[in-house]
Amino acid sequence: MSIFSSFHSKIVRFFNDRKARTFCGTHRDLVYYPKDSVFTYETITIGDRVFINKRAYLSGEISIGDDVLIGPDVFITSGDHGFTEIGKPINRQGRMKPRKVTICDDAWIGAKACILAGVTIGKGAVIGAGSVVTKDVPPYSVCVGNPCRKVKDRYSEAERIEHEKLLQTKRELCNSDGTTVGK
Ligand SMILES: CC(C)(COP(=O)(O)OP(=O)(O)OC[C@H]1O[C@@H](n2cnc3c(N)ncnc32)[C@H](O)[C@@H]1OP(=O)(O)O)[C@@H](O)C(=O)NCCC(=O)NCCS
Repeated sequence: MSIFSSFHSKIVRFFNDRKARTFCGTHRDLVYYPKDSVFTYETITIGDRVFINKRAYLSGEISIGDDVLIGPDVFITSGDHGFTEIGKPINRQGRMKPRKVTICDDAWIGAKACILAGVTIGKGAVIGAGSVVTKDVPPYSVCVGNPCRKVKDRYSEAERIEHEKLLQTKRELCNSDGTTVGK
């Protein structure tokens, strides 16, 4: 490689690294800490009013709904390395096909939780701090631990119905840009 082409590729890399990267989805009123976190931006879809605390590591095909709260130091991945081929070290087996992670509306992911490939966190679910989530989590459940298991429901059935009714009413009181009607 000539001195010129080496210099040229360094310049291209310098500017690519500084390109403003952004998430997919509407992500209105998103709060996140890009300098303290790692995101594969273009593969992550985010809804409205989502909060992602510091030192997030979100990598791969991830879909996050509206009103989701993500605590500090959370790790979410849609990927895995292959490791079953005989006679090949793992670092030469390549990656497995990504399996999308979905976090539905109104979920809360506690600090230091780890959410692995293919998992769906149901609407309104709570994931305890430090949990390792390997399987789908039912809507409005409270799940904790490693491996993450349901310990209780967030609401009784009647409370859940009331909660959803109230959220719906509030949504109807919003303008299309998310501001309250009359403002
Ligand atoms: C999941 C959580 C919300 C549950 O709170 P809670 O309703 O008061 O839970 P409880 O105390 O009734 O716990 C129920 C059971 O789960 C256990 N448990 C609760 N949180 C746990 C956790 N993170 N990991 C492992 N077990 C947990 C409790 O020890 C209890 O077990 P037991 O029934 O054997 O005694 C809370 O424990 C938690 O982890 N909060 C996250 C805090 C956080 O990350 N904040 C960051 C700011 S975004």
